[in-house]
Amino acid sequence: MTKTKARAPAIYQIYPRSFQDTTGSGIGDLPGITSRLDYIAGLGVDAIWLSPIYVSPMMDGGYDIIDHTAIDDRYGTMEDFDAMVARAHDLGLKVYMDQVLNHTSDECPWFLEAIAGDEEKADYYLWRDPKPDGTEPNNWFAQFGTRAWTYNHKRRQYYYHQFTKHQPALNLRNPTVQDHIRTQIEGWLDHGVDGFRFDVVTAFLWDESLKDNPVASQEVHEKVAGETFNPYTFQDHTYDMLPGDGASYAANLRKWAGERAYLFGENTSGNNSIELCMDFSQEGRLDSTYSTDMPEGRGSPATFGDILSRGADFQKLPGWLSSHDQPRHGRGDASDAVLALQMAFLPGPWIIYQGEEMGLTQPDLAHHEVTDPLDLLWWPDGPGREGARVPIPWDADGEWYGFTDGCPWLPMRWDRDVLRRAQGKGGMVDFYRRIIGLRRDHGWATAKIEDSSTQNDIFDLTVVTEDGTRYRGVFCHGSGVSADTPEAPALICSDGVAPSAEGWWGGVWKL
Ligand code: GLC
Repeated sequence: MTKTKARAPAIYQIYPRSFQDTTGSGIGDLPGITSRLDYIAGLGVDAIWLSPIYVSPMMDGGYDIIDHTAIDDRYGTMEDFDAMVARAHDLGLKVYMDQVLNHTSDECPWFLEAIAGDEEKADYYLWRDPKPDGTEPNNWFAQFGTRAWTYNHKRRQYYYHQFTKHQPALNLRNPTVQDHIRTQIEGWLDHGVDGFRFDVVTAFLWDESLKDNPVASQEVHEKVAGETFNPYTFQDHTYDMLPGDGASYAANLRKWAGERAYLFGENTSGNNSIELCMDFSQEGRLDSTYSTDMPEGRGSPATFGDILSRGADFQKLPGWLSSHDQPRHGRGDASDAVLALQMAFLPGPWIIYQGEEMGLTQPDLAHHEVTDPLDLLWWPDGPGREGARVPIPWDADGEWYGFTDGCPWLPMRWDRDVLRRAQGKGGMVDFYRRIIGLRRDHGWATAKIEDSSTQNDIFDLTVVTEDGTRYRGVFCHGSGVSADTPEAPALICSDGVAPSAEGWWGGVWKL
């Protein structure tokens, strides 16, 4: 761990499988990440967050873990990991690891032992007898939209899972499970990591009564995370999600990881999302927690109006628009630059997903090319997670864009001219470098909001930095209404970075 904890860090998310391959396997690896750290540090970010690199059958892109303490050999070795951390620290980058505590893989030895009749291991998970007619113990759905219970004929019982059936939910109240988690967290801290991203913290606990969830009201139905055709959104998640002050469980995570670690959580609830993020980020819990509101609204003024009206403290609510779970928000035009500047100007932590700084847009994939279980479930109407996982095109001219010498695990069909522009002088990558630098040099990340308005598709924000300087950012989201901006020239604006887009413009002024 490096000495001080980053405040409101700019975090660059790496999805290792799609970042940089060095072996010709078509899959990214740890030495690949190490080889690109100079580039990442050159962007000016504070930290990297690594999506899972643990031993996994990859039924859910690595979020189905057999052994949380070991590295999958597709990604390299523990020595490769140590070398990556050392290089990151030399470059002044913190390293945050993904921790998927909510579930294991169904190939995890604990789960296999439970199936074989080990009752101690069975209590690491949630097993229940079928109802007398053989059906599931209750009406709960998994977040992806299948039933939350899968029958195992060996135990003649159902087990509970909130994602795919290959991810049995861990019983996080079990003290031995807690001991394992603590050991695993301490192990990664010993390897020098500086913080953790905790997967799906809002799924951690359920009500032990296992009562049926009630039917969702129309309002809840629209707010629950997921497409509205997903039956998971038909329920109010009263009993399967965080009964009582479930967010207080985060105090354990703080206890296990220590004060100096930067801890942030992923909220997949949708329902009361901002309120829950604030609960998870209370004193003594996580540093921050992010919800899906921002990407689902593509950072629109209306989205921010709603988030602000629900009492968000942006220091505890990282800004982000894309990830390995969301379609890329880029459209290859000026709107990308406006959104980037808006996110850089917004107080609080900021998560940048690999490749968004290149202005990457969402690639189209054919059904036979897709491997993601969620996309396949609802194809072609799903959320479209796999497109954002298409590997990074480092070199507009290379056969596989400098990602691999082999055959990439997903087809790469990036537009080479668009890439040349984005990666060339004055293009999107340069723009990200500039705005990340301005964010740092002017102290925007730790500023306080003095005034804001989200009328007419314009997000207008005035902030005061810790040294008392005031800045105003105006971000027009295509409405055609012209914003009333200061006469003085802007400190920075979105002009010229990418092809213009009707009504999209953003700028920041020092007042
Ligand atoms: C998180 C991950 C996602 C995964 C899910 C289940 O939302 O980001 O990729 O499918 O958790 O682990």
